[in-house]
Amino acid sequence: MTSSLSVHFLRASVLYALAGMALGLHMAASHDHSQMPTHAHLMLFGWVGMTIYAAVYKMWPDTAAGPLPKVHMIVAHLALITLTAGLFIIYSGDIPLGDPIAAVSSIVLFANMALFAWIVWRKVR
Ligand code: HEM
Ligand code: HEM
Repeated sequence: MTSSLSVHFLRASVLYALAGMALGLHMAASHDHSQMPTHAHLMLFGWVGMTIYAAVYKMWPDTAAGPLPKVHMIVAHLALITLTAGLFIIYSGDIPLGDPIAAVSSIVLFANMALFAWIVWRKVR
């Protein structure tokens, strides 16, 4: 379980990096930067944040024990995917549709970060 959690986070993070960079390349090539917040959050949450999660679960294996880290992982992926979709819809122009999706995803991601904080404070020695 210890290694599979970090392996999952790292494998997913490189996919988020490819998706976010593809969006960045599309923005640069089209000279249309309106998806900048979508790109920024996909890169920083998906690539940087998920890689940090992978490193923490690998470097402090105690943090990966028990069911809570698994919940943290599943929620992190689901909420980032819905946040990205919500942001994409907002910055494509449909604010009434995208805003509630992004809002709920943001609150879930915040709660999930609180769960990670709890895991770190309890298990990192
Ligand atoms: C193929 C590589 C990439 C391309 C083509 C690309 C392209 C872009 C473009 C066109 C913008 C909008 C700039 C503006 O309108 O001011 C942008 C912003 C941004 N990019 Fe990328 N990007 C790439 C990789 C990355 C990576 C690796 C990260 C982070 C790990 C990143 C993080 C950001 C952030 C945070 C912003 C927002 C900057 C701000 O708030 O001013 N990008 N990127
Ligand atoms: C619950 C989580 C989060 C919420 C609700 C949130 C919300 C926001 C909002 C409302 C903006 C302004 C967008 C605009 O000007 O149109 C923003 C920009 C930004 N956020 Fe976040 N954020 C969250 C998490 C994060 C995290 C974890 C990072 C980095 C690891 C991050 C990095 C950035 C950056 C670099 C920008 C400027 C880029 C841009 O304007 O597109 N955010 N965020």
